[in-house]
Amino acid sequence: MDPIKTTKIAQSKLSKVDFNNLGFGNVFSDHMLVCDFKNGGWGQPEIIPFQEISLMPSAKIFHYGQSIFEGMKAYKDEDATTWLFRPEENFKRLNKSAKRLAIPELPESVFFEGLKALLKVDNDWIPTTAGSSLYIRPIIFATGEGFHASPADGYRFLVATAPSGPYFSGKVSVLIEEKYSRSANGGVGFAKAGGNYAGQFYPTQLAIEKGYNQVIWTDDNTHEYIEEAGAMNIFIRINDTLITGPTSDRILDGVTRKSIIEIAKAEGIPVEVRKFTVSEVINASKNGQLKEMFGAGTAAVISPISSFGFREQDYDLPELETSYAARLKDQITSIQTNIAPDPFGWRYKV
Ligand code: COI
Repeated sequence: MDPIKTTKIAQSKLSKVDFNNLGFGNVFSDHMLVCDFKNGGWGQPEIIPFQEISLMPSAKIFHYGQSIFEGMKAYKDEDATTWLFRPEENFKRLNKSAKRLAIPELPESVFFEGLKALLKVDNDWIPTTAGSSLYIRPIIFATGEGFHASPADGYRFLVATAPSGPYFSGKVSVLIEEKYSRSANGGVGFAKAGGNYAGQFYPTQLAIEKGYNQVIWTDDNTHEYIEEAGAMNIFIRINDTLITGPTSDRILDGVTRKSIIEIAKAEGIPVEVRKFTVSEVINASKNGQLKEMFGAGTAAVISPISSFGFREQDYDLPELETSYAARLKDQITSIQTNIAPDPFGWRYKV
């Protein structure tokens, strides 16, 4: 691939950022990576200042929602080396999502060379404060025009980044959802399609009105099986066993999810990847065997759930001194930030 053409911003915004008080994904770095698909092929990636994009009202993204994304993080260690975490998993999943939404697959070199060049240009935007990182958001959306309901003939791959702190602050209470569904067999639940998240907002708003923070998604067919927690995968701990559902058409193959499974197994924690029901969770809660419930995803890493609601009744999770959630979060973030050894070979030096 040719060297990536870079146009630098006239005046950096970096000095305006308070790195000690970062929210999540609301301050954006100086540059972005763009690459267009036109005339049947992907062109050359380019780095330009972070700026507005101009699209025709007839661009198909607005009409038929051909849009996918990824979530990744870059970390800087104390030697100022930048690390990514299992980026090849994000690349593979981006193209799995692309295929499902009839978007042309992206060449590996555009993804990796583009990302590395962008992280170099915006190196000073990668936070070094504990608990913070540079959240990376690769997206692909349809720029090709037409009202005909068929795949567009033009797309843009774009990577924007945001120095970010924690995704959630405080305790997370969730409502087990029995009416609305996040995904269905044969659908796009396994893909990171923007529309999957849009479809969650309304049921989540209803849960927030009832005093909860998030929705626990159950299967669309019976609403008996617990599948995901908000925009994250879900884990429960019954006695000492860690349980999470198997990936499927309906469940996202989360990078954090699969890493937690591997770390827990290596730690000797009994892990079961199997379907589990709402009744199993309620019964375990009633007889004191339900020790933990947590969400897992790139943005929040591990987000402990403090209580859940089901059919007008609330159930509290115990406050543990030594939780799997805290232990696994510490282990995965220590690997991500190059504080601990990386026995799995997951870190990727930029
Ligand atoms: C992530 O965890 O990175 C995600 O993609 C979820 C997103 C909605 C914040």
